[in-house]
Amino acid sequence: MSQFQYIIRKALPGDIDEIYRIEQDSSALWKRDFFVREFKTDFSCFLVAKYKKRIIGFAVAWLVSNEIQLNNIAVEREFRGIGIGEKLIEQIVEISAMRKPFKILIELKEKNISAYKFYIKLGFTKTGLRKDYYNDDNALLMEKTYSE
Ligand SMILES: CC(C)(COP(=O)(O)OP(=O)(O)OC[C@H]1O[C@@H](n2cnc3c(N)ncnc32)[C@H](O)[C@@H]1OP(=O)(O)O)[C@@H](O)C(=O)NCCC(=O)NCCS
Repeated sequence: MSQFQYIIRKALPGDIDEIYRIEQDSSALWKRDFFVREFKTDFSCFLVAKYKKRIIGFAVAWLVSNEIQLNNIAVEREFRGIGIGEKLIEQIVEISAMRKPFKILIELKEKNISAYKFYIKLGFTKTGLRKDYYNDDNALLMEKTYSE
């Protein structure tokens, strides 16, 4: 993948089928309608990564006052581990144009060790735990602060 060139752009309604396919093969927590709803949400930042004609990842965040709430992110399996997840988050931060200090907040299943390692690598820290938040797991709360 040395010549690997992909773009990141805002999601479009026509991307939903591919986005939903990635979601079902990843966390599988969101229904199709949840993605559709994001297009009607003013404060939503919904991005996709696209390689040739194919959607290979997405991220959904809400930009509210001085916080970015990362609601969902996934990269297609065969494209994981090459920086796409990190780039999606970087782009959300850039688009948000937030003035420092601000935070990114996330919530993930405690058993999702690979996502946990990903967020740790990006500089997030654990801030809390919501017991039995999901049907089958606790929720781990993590955040990263961007200071002046
Ligand atoms: C979590 C996820 C989005 C990460 O995306 P990604 O494109 O694979 O991550 P990146 O390649 O940008 O990784 C960024 C850094 O995190 C590290 N990282 C990523 N996945 C990791 C893993 N499974 N174990 C250890 N480190 C990991 C990378 O090594 C990289 O560090 P580096 O710069 O030193 O190489 C992806 O694994 C995914 O789609 N998982 C399934 C869905 C999911 O769990 N989403 C999160 C729900 S909260």
